[in-house]
Amino acid sequence: MTDWGTRAAVLLEELSRCSEPGLGVTRLPFTPEHRAAIDLLSERMEQAGLEVALDAAGTLIGRKEGPAGAGTFLMGSHQDSVREGGAYDGIMGVVLPLIALEKLKAGGTELPFSVEILAFADEEGVRFPTALIGSRALAGSFDPAVLEMTDRDGISLRDALSGFGLTPDGIGQLARGPGDVIGFLETHIEQGPVLEREDEAVGIVTAICGIERHQISVIGETGHAGTLPMEGRRDALVGAAALVTEVNRMARATPDLRATVGALTVEPNVVNAVPRAVRLTAEFRSPDDETRSLAGENLHRFAHALAQESRLQITCTRTYQQKAQPCAAELSECLKDASRHARTRALSLPSGATHDASAMADLCPVAMLFVRCRNGVSHTPEEFASASDMGVAIDVLAHFLKSVR
Ligand code: GLV
Ligand code: MN
Ligand code: MN
Repeated sequence: MTDWGTRAAVLLEELSRCSEPGLGVTRLPFTPEHRAAIDLLSERMEQAGLEVALDAAGTLIGRKEGPAGAGTFLMGSHQDSVREGGAYDGIMGVVLPLIALEKLKAGGTELPFSVEILAFADEEGVRFPTALIGSRALAGSFDPAVLEMTDRDGISLRDALSGFGLTPDGIGQLARGPGDVIGFLETHIEQGPVLEREDEAVGIVTAICGIERHQISVIGETGHAGTLPMEGRRDALVGAAALVTEVNRMARATPDLRATVGALTVEPNVVNAVPRAVRLTAEFRSPDDETRSLAGENLHRFAHALAQESRLQITCTRTYQQKAQPCAAELSECLKDASRHARTRALSLPSGATHDASAMADLCPVAMLFVRCRNGVSHTPEEFASASDMGVAIDVLAHFLKSVR
């Protein structure tokens, strides 16, 4: 008898090698590593009897055609990782529904609707200061202005897409008609400690938190570290340090707010010169959209006051936001039933991470299935979900697909 969980683990291990060299998995969108993942997934989708296509936003689509006019159920997640990330975040949500379709096929089940497995190019927003490119394209909420955003090497999203053989100006035509789409189900590693604490393999997500990201530039004046008097220095890193401290202070003082400065570059970045320029990111997350946007506004106010008192030039731009999103009640109930069928307690929990499902909610009802994650860690090479927990999730997905309509 096939061990479906182990089959998923083997494929995920192969996909984890589609990575830049170094610690963990680094697979950014529109790169050779992304191409390698597309090639491997395409092969497996074709073997599973799916028709494979790559859309203009770089979303890999595997489609199993059902009866005409019966609508399409969508499942999937993102292929990209953070830098030095794990082998499960995102990509597991492509692999598990694919294996669930293999399992249904092996059991001779024909679904009464069409199904698509989607591997979105970019959810993490690590390469470009935007995210959810593929899911927003399908939902019709893609903003073409983001095509001009650049990565840290100065390559625009437009050029990255073209260089990958895609047609950026075709993204606007990818929006799906809500009439054809039955729903979207995203399976994802939990990225937190709840399921492990509860000793449960899977759980059902109630809502996905909202998020916003800012790019901040602090410009001062460099000079010799030994000869420039301390009085009157315009040290950009000292200004950036005040911003980092304020971002952290805000989140500590505000219930339900998470805030992080995760990336920072310093120029000239040498031991014996005063820092001239610092660029940093700030990210706020909350299940409450007002709490989150207030934090963003407060940061901009703080930066403005700091610029005046420190004689630094500070610019602060919000580059990305996605509102908090509850999961659809009816679809989530169906997922709970399927989870009970797979002999789990069908626990519910919220998501502090963001997901493609929050963008897909503009198109159709969405639900999310979380899979237990070892030690509650994610966005690190230590991220791990066991083959047996993935086997339970595959079982849930197969039951879900048999009962969703
Ligand atoms: C992305 O998945 C995030 O939550 O950072
Ligand atoms: Mn993810
Ligand atoms: Mn992630």
